[in-house]
Order: sequence, then C-alpha cells, then structure tokens
Amino acid sequence: MTRRQLLAGNWKMNKTVAEARAFAEAIGRQADAFAGEADFAVCPPFTALHVLRVTLPARVALGAQNVYFEPKGAFTGEVSAEMLAEAGVRYVIVGHSERRHLFGETDALVGKKVEAVLGAGMTPILCVGEDLRERQLGHTERVVERQTKAALAGVDAGRAGEVVIAYEPVWAIGSGQTPAPEDAQRVVAHIRRVVEQEKGKEAAGRVRILYGGSVTADNIAGFTAQPDIDGALVGGASLQPDGFVRMAKAIT
Ligand code: G3H
Repeated sequence: MTRRQLLAGNWKMNKTVAEARAFAEAIGRQADAFAGEADFAVCPPFTALHVLRVTLPARVALGAQNVYFEPKGAFTGEVSAEMLAEAGVRYVIVGHSERRHLFGETDALVGKKVEAVLGAGMTPILCVGEDLRERQLGHTERVVERQTKAALAGVDAGRAGEVVIAYEPVWAIGSGQTPAPEDAQRVVAHIRRVVEQEKGKEAAGRVRILYGGSVTADNIAGFTAQPDIDGALVGGASLQPDGFVRMAKAIT
C-alpha cells in the first residue's frame, strides 16, 4: 500500500501573529517546494491559526497542537474539535509528550481526544514514545504498544487507518540526539503490528506513522527512507522558513 509522506511542523509555544505571518509569506515565496506528492502542515499556537489560514500556501494545511474532547461547556481555557474544524484546522496533535508529562494527560484522555478529532472530520496526529528510563530498561516496545492501544481503543477499525501516529522518543525531543533511522524503523514497524492486531490489516496498511525528535533538514531523509516511516513531526527545525522548505524538498 502506498502511503503519502507527511511533514508536520509543531511550533509549540513559539511565534506571535506577526511572526507567523512572516513565516507563511516566506514559504509562500518558495511554494514550488510543496508541489510534490506529499502532505504538509504547520501547527501553530491557537492564536496564530487565523493568520495562517489566510496566508499559508494552498498545499500547506493547518494543524493545532491540542484539543479538548467535550463539544462545549464550562471548560475554561479549552477548545473543542468542532471549533478547530471551523477555524480551518485539518490535523490535531494529540498526546504530545509535553502534554503527557507537563500537563498530566493520561492514555484514557488521549483516547477521548483522538475520537473527538475524528468525529469532527479532522486527522489526529497521535504521539507515542518512550522516555530515557523506559528505553534503558528495554521497555520501548511495551510503552508504545500501551499508548497506541489505549489511544485507538474507541476508534472503529474502519476509521483507524485515518489516524496519523508520530513515534517520538521523549529523549530525542529537542535534544539533538536521535535514534539511528533503522532503530526508529524497528519501533515504527512494531507500532504498525500493534495497529494490525487491534484494528486489522487494512488499517495497519493505511495508517501513517511519522518519526519525531530532533529532525532537521540534514537528517530527515534518513528517516523517511525507512519502509514504515511515512514522514516527520518536527519541532525546532520547523520554525525557520528555509528549514521547513528544505525538509519539504527532502521528502518529495
Ligand atoms: O512535536 C515535535 C517534537 O516534540 C520534536 O521536537 O524537533 O524540536 O526535537 P524537536
């Protein structure tokens, strides 16, 4: 099964509205970088969604970094899936390790968010990955397995293939350290087997699995050349227009 590569930039808590506009205009001047057979997305803070909606090149989709699973109500500070969809969002990052570790998000909460995002017609980018201690203990496979199963528990087999999963080893995030591409491939292949066990062959063949953690324009191609790795979720290196453009070119 052919799966399209996806390059998604996660800006985390970076860029004002003015800075976001400048980024979109800069990549717009090199829009031919996004003409190839791949998908592209930028996930800014909520405050910059609107300006990016009106300034990003047409082939670069809008993403969000978080969502709440309830449709509406007394949930101060939260944003629903329907609100994001209406704002033009196509992808929503769910269960990023910073949300899990800094804000206490549980596997069960992440699962509800995945369902809410699919329910609103958007694509979740579900993040899974082990921390350093878990890796040193040899628990990488069991951690990603637990996180993947929990997050997909409420998703019908027929829709599971729409989910994007990002394998992000926590120790690689923002550290400049990465696993060898072959090592990331082994874990990603394991995640795909878990999807197959839980949701069947068709879903496992369709689901896109990205690698994330200290990806740059210089190392991205080594990851995306792996048979089970279908793109990258990029933090720091996605903040510079030239870096984003170089990564787009590297995967197409
Ligand atoms: O969502 C992105 C990841 O946390 C990776 O961040 O590319 O800065 O290591 P990074």
